[in-house]
Amino acid sequence: MNKVFEEITELSLKRALFYPSAEIYGSLAGFYDYGSIGFRVKKKLEDYWRWFFLKSLGENFHEIQPSELMPEPVFKASGHLEHFEDPVVECSKCGFVERADQLLEGFLHMVFEGLSSEQLDELIKKHGLKCPECGGEFKRVFSKSLMFGFETRKGMVYLRPETAQGVFVDFKREFKANREKLPLGLAVVGKAFRNEISPRQALFRTKEFTQAELQVFFDPEDEKHEKFSTIEKEKARVVLASERDKGEQLLTAGELAGRGYFEKYVYYLFMMKKFYESLGLKELRFYEKNEEERAFYNKFHFDCEVFFKSFDSFREVAGLHYRTDYDLKNHEEHSKQSMEIFANGRKFVPHVIELSFGIDRTFFALLDKGFRKDGKRTWLSLPRQVAPFVAGVYPLVSKDGLDEKARQVYELLASEFDVFYDEKGSIGKRYARADEIGVLYGITIDYDTMKDGTVTIRDRDSTKQERVSISEIGQRIKRVFDSLYY
Ligand code: GLY
Repeated sequence: MNKVFEEITELSLKRALFYPSAEIYGSLAGFYDYGSIGFRVKKKLEDYWRWFFLKSLGENFHEIQPSELMPEPVFKASGHLEHFEDPVVECSKCGFVERADQLLEGFLHMVFEGLSSEQLDELIKKHGLKCPECGGEFKRVFSKSLMFGFETRKGMVYLRPETAQGVFVDFKREFKANREKLPLGLAVVGKAFRNEISPRQALFRTKEFTQAELQVFFDPEDEKHEKFSTIEKEKARVVLASERDKGEQLLTAGELAGRGYFEKYVYYLFMMKKFYESLGLKELRFYEKNEEERAFYNKFHFDCEVFFKSFDSFREVAGLHYRTDYDLKNHEEHSKQSMEIFANGRKFVPHVIELSFGIDRTFFALLDKGFRKDGKRTWLSLPRQVAPFVAGVYPLVSKDGLDEKARQVYELLASEFDVFYDEKGSIGKRYARADEIGVLYGITIDYDTMKDGTVTIRDRDSTKQERVSISEIGQRIKRVFDSLYY
């Protein structure tokens, strides 16, 4: 974390982007609230995700809203109760706890994910690591479940650690309701909960977070994608698990398919890339996890990583997972309900590709990328899909009828666009406040407006102003958004 991180968190507090939850009681690490401005951005990000993956891909993809709390058998079947845990070290003197791999990472600047408790223990001893708080000795590394569970009269229930399980248990019903066709995509945008040992880095590692996940159910004998040829020659930066020594490589979709990742999987990898690029997050790469590191349910697992100025490094914002029939088969076995379907002339259990997005991390990536400061002003260069407002409408001064005229312009635009009206303070200060939260345009009503019916439109990024007649403002704004949904 560095100065950029500090400046973003400071701005977030000041301008109601996000801030610690229950602050008046001192707040708890790892819990954040989205404020009035941040929530607008987050909601727009979620809506854009919905548009991009559910609508623009034009496939048999739908959103559902399963329960966030589910009974114990679901997570016994999914493997989360057995496998979803972190290795933890605890100081024998002061009780300080930390994830063992992260403690090592902090000291040795290397990644230790996926090592067993015994291996981590050995490394801690070998390097003589002591408690960073009091210098005490660590106890042996132990595993701690990430699941939040609650007792009820009917047995244990758990907060979902990923939205995906709700989709798997609902699959058969949705398959029937959606014309019994494959591929079938089922998406959830919602909260997931993990009892992280050491939540940190603001929105980056929290106990409660929002995922946007899409499970694509498909016939494992139909691994081709009909639109593959449209992306075959496109390139992505990848780090392959089997070729880590080569570091980052720039490979085409065709080359990746040639390395054993089937067409459908590669196609969605490029859709993920396109999604982030369309939000201006172009410095990204796909980092493949090896057998020890990847989630227990995955056969292929690439993290989609974006470069963050705040951390001066790439960080995971999303994941592309080939879950095979792991989940459906396990639910079949535990629930004794068949997960087989009849399609393409056969009976079989479908396989699943999962596109899993961390909405909070993506939100933070947008702030990180958009944060600008040039000595004169601070502004958030947010992409138009997620800017909290399209425009502020301002009378240059609130007298001589300029304020009334400005209110009329505001009313004219408010039915179609996210705009606000502001007459308080100097025009320079109003622009500065709007720039700080990423408002795209400033529309100012001045004395010329009263004579010729024109206003100025000021662009957030360039600060350039143009004169436009009131009747043309709507068209001007629409033009900017037309090219958005391609
Ligand atoms: N559903 C995958 C994940 O939570 O990472």
